Amino acid sequence: MASQPLMNTYARMSVAFERGEGSWLYDTQGNKFLDALSGIAVCGLGHAHPAVTQAITDQAAKLIHTSNLYTIDLQEQLAEKLCAVSGMESVFFGNSGAEANEAAIKLARLYGHNKGIENPSIIVMEQSFHGRTLATLSATGNRKVHAGFEPLVGGFVRAPYDDIAAIEAIAQNSPNVVAILVEPIQGESGVRIPADDYLANLRKICDQNNWLLMLDEVQTGNGRTGSYFAYQSAGILPDVVTTAKGLGNGVPIGACLAQGEAASTLKPGNHGSTFGGNLLACAAALAVVDTIEKENLCDRASQLGAKMIADFTEELEGADYIRDIRGKGMMIAIELDQPCTELAVLAKVKGILLNVTGDGKVIRMLPPLTLTDSEASLIVGVISKLIKIIAADDRDHPRS
Ligand SMILES: Cc1ncc(COP(=O)(O)O)c(C=O)c1O
Repeated sequence: MASQPLMNTYARMSVAFERGEGSWLYDTQGNKFLDALSGIAVCGLGHAHPAVTQAITDQAAKLIHTSNLYTIDLQEQLAEKLCAVSGMESVFFGNSGAEANEAAIKLARLYGHNKGIENPSIIVMEQSFHGRTLATLSATGNRKVHAGFEPLVGGFVRAPYDDIAAIEAIAQNSPNVVAILVEPIQGESGVRIPADDYLANLRKICDQNNWLLMLDEVQTGNGRTGSYFAYQSAGILPDVVTTAKGLGNGVPIGACLAQGEAASTLKPGNHGSTFGGNLLACAAALAVVDTIEKENLCDRASQLGAKMIADFTEELEGADYIRDIRGKGMMIAIELDQPCTELAVLAKVKGILLNVTGDGKVIRMLPPLTLTDSEASLIVGVISKLIKIIAADDRDHPRS
């Protein structure tokens, strides 16, 4: 037997949670933690939301899984609902963000082949994150994610994020391009927010070149940034949208949505997934989409997120070690001028869960959309204090 029964793929913290309620998690020792990470943008409705609990317990007692060989009414209902909220026309269901992106990548390649392009390629961005399967890690713009897994899947052309001139230059020189795959906000590389007109400019270039505009909303979707999908605040319609994370509030589900020609590109036999869109996952996701609408959680995320950013800005005013405080809705980041990875551990000791991303200098918060005002104040107060403490400590004991 292996000395470690779990493969060593995560550097885990030494805490195990056994129960959750709203924004709070309770560990096996009885300690409580305010969850400002939501399982990395997954539990947008908080933990044990009654609507989701009810939907999955009722469905589990009836039927969990049949097969995509048969009609699944709940899957059709969910597809209709998602099309209504997104402006898309058809949906493929998988089980994760990576699978949703795999579907988009395959769809784009087939779209290209249908146009007679034998070696279609997709523009992807530096510092992007699209998943850990071979195609999605190859699409990802982070050398650390590639290292050791070469040969990478081909057919991706890389461009700097938020750089329209670079995309225009590719358009002049790359006849095989069929699509752009891009995050509306880059989450894993540190909540990097592009210019307000970035998506609209990408839309224009895609229209001029007959490319598909494919948005990875795995992290930004499902109300996280203050609209159901982030592109809705940019006033554009993509051809393809992928989502996962917040869609099932913890029950695994991913979706690739499409409209226009992209909606009918995949045909029977082109793609599939045994578990994708099974009854249990669809029951959970239907409850999530309904609750986001009924509880007006997009507006709530937009307003409370803006308030938290304003409060952090006030608390940390004048601190020269703060590079930036930014975010959209409940996707919030504080960038320091120095590495601060220890902050996640210190915050956990103080009973708040968050993570540090980017190059170790970006404190990222992705709280539930259901966060209360007082929970938001608690996060701002405790985290601002901790930032001041570690910055002062660094000044007294500078790193080489
Ligand atoms: C933008 C984006 N795309 C794709 C993924 C991959 O999703 P999953 O881990 O569900 O495969 C992630 C996960 O962090 C993500 O943030």
